[in-house]
Parts: sequence; C-alpha cells; structure tokens
Amino acid sequence: MHTSQFTSQFHAATPGEGGPRPAAVIAGLGTCLPTAEFDNDALAAHLDTDDEWIRTRTGIAARRRAAPTTSLRDLAHRAAANALDSAGQGTVGALILATTTPDRPVPAAAPEIAHRLGLGGIPAFDLSAVCSGFLYAAAVAAGLITGGITDSVLVVAAETYSRIVDPGDRSTAVLFGDGAGAVVLRRGSPGEPGALLAFDLGSDGAGADLIHVPGARERPDGPRWFAMSGRKVYLRAVEQMTVSALRVIKDCAWDPDEVDALVPHQANARIIQAVADRIGMPPERAVCALSRVGNTAAASIPLALAQALADGRLKPGARTVLTAFGGGLTWASTALVWPQLTTVDSEI
Ligand code: UT7
Repeated sequence: MHTSQFTSQFHAATPGEGGPRPAAVIAGLGTCLPTAEFDNDALAAHLDTDDEWIRTRTGIAARRRAAPTTSLRDLAHRAAANALDSAGQGTVGALILATTTPDRPVPAAAPEIAHRLGLGGIPAFDLSAVCSGFLYAAAVAAGLITGGITDSVLVVAAETYSRIVDPGDRSTAVLFGDGAGAVVLRRGSPGEPGALLAFDLGSDGAGADLIHVPGARERPDGPRWFAMSGRKVYLRAVEQMTVSALRVIKDCAWDPDEVDALVPHQANARIIQAVADRIGMPPERAVCALSRVGNTAAASIPLALAQALADGRLKPGARTVLTAFGGGLTWASTALVWPQLTTVDSEI
C-alpha cells in the first residue's frame, strides 16, 4: 500500500529568527442547514430498513435535505455570511469552498459565493477532498496566511449528498444529509486561543474505488449514484483518524488524556467512539453530533463544532483536536485551543 503523507507544525520562532511566526487563528464560525428534516421512520416507509437498525449501527435519527429550490451555493453563501457575522468582519482576503457536490461541474462555485458576499475580486476556488475537505481547506488557508499571501481566509464547507445518493439504496440513503459550515481564519500568533497549532494530512489513492461516484465514461448510460464499501471504509476510518489525530496531539506536546474535545468527522457514532478509545481518551470527550443531521461529508466538522458549542460540550480554553477521513482516500487533522466566539447559525 502506498500512502503519501506529510506533517507540518506551526512553531513559535526560535531566537534569532526575527520574531514569532504567524499562525492561522479561527475568528468566526457559521452554519446553515436546510429546514426539511427526514427521520428514520420517513425513510423506512419506502426502504427495507428500520429505525432500530439505523440508530444502533450509526447513531443517526434524522437528516436534512435541501429543497429543490435551494442550491449548494445558497447553503454555502448563508454559512459563509454567518461566519463573517460571527467574526465581526465584513471582508476577507480569499475564499475556499470545500465540496464534492457542486451544483454544476464548471465553474467552481467559490467565486460566485464571494461575489454574493460583496467580496468580488478576491481569490476564490473550490477544493475537493470529500469528507476531509474542510480540514484540507483549513490547511491550505493556513498556508496562504502564514506564507504572507493574505491576512484572512473564509473556509466554507457545503454539501448536498441527497442529490448524489441513490434514494433506493438503503446502505447509503440512510447515512447522508445536506448542510454547510464555515470559519473565518485570520493571521495571528501560535500563542492565541484559536490558533491552528499543527496539521497532519494524507491520502491513499489505492483505495479510490471504496468511495466514488462513477463518471460519464465509466457508466455512459446507467445511473451515476454515490457508492461506498461501508465496512472497508469503517475499518480504514477508525485506523487512519486514530493515527492522524495522535500525530497532531504529539506535535502539540499534549498527552491524549489532556485533550478536552475530539471533534471527528461525523460518519458513524461507533467510528467516533472507536477512535476516542484507541487514542486513549475518555469517551465523553469525543463529540458525536450526527443524530439530527447524519453524515454531511465536508460540512460535518464545522456543523459538529457549532452543535458542541450550543450543547456546552465545547468551551473556550478546551484543547481541541479535529480529525477527518473520507473518499480519495484522504485524511486530515488539526489541533487548537478553542477560542471565545459565538457561532451564527441559520436555516434555509
Ligand atoms: O463519510 C465518509 C466515510 N464514511 C464512513 O466512514 C462510513 C463507514 N461505514 C459505516 O459507517 C458502516 O459500515 C455502515 C453504517 C455503512 C454499515 O454498517 P455495518 O455495521 O458495517 O453493516 P454492514 O455493511 O456490515 O451490513 C450488515 C448488514 C448487511 O446485511 P447482511 O449481508 O449481513 O444480511 C446489510 O445488507 O446490514 C444490512 N444493511 C442494512 N439493514 C437495514 C445495510 N444497510 C442497512 C439498512 N437497514 N439501512
């Protein structure tokens, strides 16, 4: 098995380097969910499944679906505007949209979202890393900020998996939901709450077929629905998020039991508990926030952060680790001390 892997860490400067190095700091958090909620019984009415199976195997009780009149760009725009409100700022230097369910393949949606926000002219592009998309986008944004290219970046993650999942396939239809989340990252210092202290990113293209949507050449006539080898992905997700999260914990010189909050990609409650167990931290410190929204792919971590804040599970000063795993295969982690901020959430 070939994996590409790198780790990086933002360190305070050593003497003689000319002052402390900058860091990317979370300054605002916003979300947007579709209003329409479908509980397990609603799906069981037309699928060979039941509430008991879905709850015990996944922890999911309901998921949201965008109305036909709501575009991915609408969800992303609202989450982005909410993040700017949360940060108390009207502008940013760049915008990155993490998504694998764009409304149209061309062009990227990020420039239109920037335009709708009145930020036309800033660099804006889409990034595709499936369920790791939010953390990949945060890492790219941190690079733009610490490399001196811009002072602040709006990182948006939005998905409409209800539009690529086969509604007649019980193995995937019960899992996914639609939604969007966004953060504002600004230039600051590593000693500040909210500073992204370390990153670990990786991929394994040998597993590309485990999560995929066939292309037009692969399946010229047939339906092109999302497909996932659930059990194989489950095992890799537990293994890889554990390794990746432990890397950033080590980079921060923390002990696993000093981590106050683990906020993993929200695919399955059993995966989340297994990762916390393997990392060696108390299970109640792992944030599981998928019960009412399901798996929202790239959007799952910012949505889980907002839910954890609302529930009081995430508090300022908490040593927090974010970790994700998804199609590609890809994985990513980062770590921060949670800052004082108020999330702005809305529905559409
Ligand atoms: O977001 C990107 C990353 N994604 C993930 O991390 C998802 C990882 N995978 C999973 O979360 C789990 O593998 C699933 C939730 C997808 C499936 O749970 P599982 O415990 O791994 O079940 P399984 O795939 O091994 O299937 C067990 C049985 C099968 O029946 P047989 O072959 O044993 O007779 C399935 O056909 O459960 C059946 N099954 C269902 N039964 C009722 C699968 N889906 C359903 C369903 N309702 N919705």
